[in-house]
Amino acid sequence: MEIRGTGSYLPGKIITNDDLSEVVDTNDEWISSRTGICQRHISEGETTSEMAAKAAVAALEDAEVSPEEVELIIVATMTGDEAMPGTACKVQKEIGAVHAACFDLSAACTGFVFALNTANAYLASGMYRNALVIGADMVSKVIDWTDRATCVLFGDGAGAVVLTCTDKKGYRFISHSDGSMGNALMLEHHYDRNLETEQRRLSIEQSASSKVSMDGQAVFRFAVRRVPQVIEEVLCINGLSREEIGCYVLHQANQRIVEAVAKRLKEPLEKFPMNLQNYGNTSSASIPILLNELDQSKRLKTGDRIVMAGFGGGLTWGASIAEWI
Ligand code: ACO
Repeated sequence: MEIRGTGSYLPGKIITNDDLSEVVDTNDEWISSRTGICQRHISEGETTSEMAAKAAVAALEDAEVSPEEVELIIVATMTGDEAMPGTACKVQKEIGAVHAACFDLSAACTGFVFALNTANAYLASGMYRNALVIGADMVSKVIDWTDRATCVLFGDGAGAVVLTCTDKKGYRFISHSDGSMGNALMLEHHYDRNLETEQRRLSIEQSASSKVSMDGQAVFRFAVRRVPQVIEEVLCINGLSREEIGCYVLHQANQRIVEAVAKRLKEPLEKFPMNLQNYGNTSSASIPILLNELDQSKRLKTGDRIVMAGFGGGLTWGASIAEWI
């Protein structure tokens, strides 16, 4: 598997920490010192599939691959436009990838890494020659805007990569889950239906009010323990040492998590690029958005070996390795 191209899309509206302090009882000092986040982009009417399609078009242009050549589209998202059709199918229609098989994958903030690992397995099997892997989330539509503990953390966005088969020996990837910890991070659906019209209406209203809830400290402890472990694990099974890694592209949830991971791995913080100050936690989109920025700013050079590591609801966590071409 080679990453042939990257793309991203952020909605135009920016909400700063000061803006948020007018909505809930918070302030810039609390948010930036505890999370590193200064602002986030929020969709004003754009859907998750529209953001995903824009990121996909940018990645295809970067890769110089036409939509007709794409054979697989996986969209990692927990905030798809509808339960059916899948967001990947809507992206297919929007960009004209008429030959692609398309499906969504739900692994919360680890979604992009799980989707990358899934696409890699398809490519390695010889079933497909190229794939579009997209992370897209619009957490703003499922956040409780009265809950200061969660609403300050997230932003909307989409990122995409184009993957193609290569003859070179590939890397082995890692995906992990621990369902027993699922309550630490939740976005509930209310699918209990009743044929009585009124109850059905109430049920739909409930569904529309599904909100993210989180045990922040449990998630923090989970992340700073599991992410260094999975990075060590992915290096070990690929016979690589930390010195052979140019940079670590982690899910952008929180600056303190990234710093703690660097410390536990005894690696310099400079090897852990961050952009969460500008975008907040964009869930499954955070890693491909950061990849695209690193690519465009030429921070990633041909031959650089990178580790991507995600963590999130489920709980789920995983890591992938790529060599920049
Ligand atoms: N502004 C001001 N005060 C706040 C805010 C806010 N936005 N949010 C919470 N507080 C208050 C609390 O009410 C509490 O007040 P109290 O002491 O009077 O009760 C105080 O700040 C401390 O609250 P804690 O929840 O203990 O704060 P903590 O130091 O744990 O920081 C945080 C919270 C930043 C969420 C931290 O737990 C964390 O980083 N967790 C990781 C979770 C994460 O990043 N999740 C992102 C989504 S999950 C993912 O991507 C995998």
